[in-house]
Amino acid sequence: MSQQKSLIIANWKMKLGLNQALDLAKSLKAVEALGKEIVICPSFASLFPVSQVLKNTELKLGAQDIFWEASGAYTGEVSASELRDVGCQFVIIGHSERRKYLSETDEIVHKKVKAALAADLVPIICVGETFDQRQAGAADYVLIQQVTKALEGIDLRPDQPVVVAYEPVWVIGTGQAIDPPQAGHVHQVIRQTLIDLFPLELVKNSFRIIYGGSVDRSNVSDFTNLENTSGVLVGNASLEAAEFIDLIKNA
Ligand code: 13P
Repeated sequence: MSQQKSLIIANWKMKLGLNQALDLAKSLKAVEALGKEIVICPSFASLFPVSQVLKNTELKLGAQDIFWEASGAYTGEVSASELRDVGCQFVIIGHSERRKYLSETDEIVHKKVKAALAADLVPIICVGETFDQRQAGAADYVLIQQVTKALEGIDLRPDQPVVVAYEPVWVIGTGQAIDPPQAGHVHQVIRQTLIDLFPLELVKNSFRIIYGGSVDRSNVSDFTNLENTSGVLVGNASLEAAEFIDLIKNA
């Protein structure tokens, strides 16, 4: 992986109303000075107002989803160019909650990754096994499939960054993260899968692999210190300013 500053992504999910989102965004302005790359992903309804708070700061904005078509009769969907218009640079794609509740398939994830890249948005591609898949010894297989199907055949320009977030489905929101060495193993599997898909130089320079799932201020450095790991994707611990600021300091 390329030597860059730690990437810390806050996924606010559907957990904050507009006023809470604005208050939290305002109290995070202070983290600019901490030398990390921070991306805030509010819900669609809060994207634009939060973008106004983050304007002229180094904090970046990301969306939690995207639609794969550029425009048209797709009621309720949001296109890549609309995300760009409101100031997004990143977009989360294929989060396990969308795979579970919205029936998102690897094929849909692939189309969304293409749409994001076409608009020069950085895709944050979420992959992860369920508890049953891990118990069955199929975790590596599932992850290789998810990464391959998301990215196979995609023509990546050397200047297009991509983030792959490993989020074991069974630890999300539990307060109990995976053992860091287990994440380290998975990140190695993901890296090898990327090397099978893309030239080594591209994998080194364009891809970042991050960990997500019950990351908090006390365990964050266990993950950011792992080899092949460029940062973290944070849910619950990003919803409260003091906790998230400590987490960023400790990363
Ligand atoms: P938690 O940090 O709440 O486990 O959520 C992780 C996650 O799903 C981030 O996308």
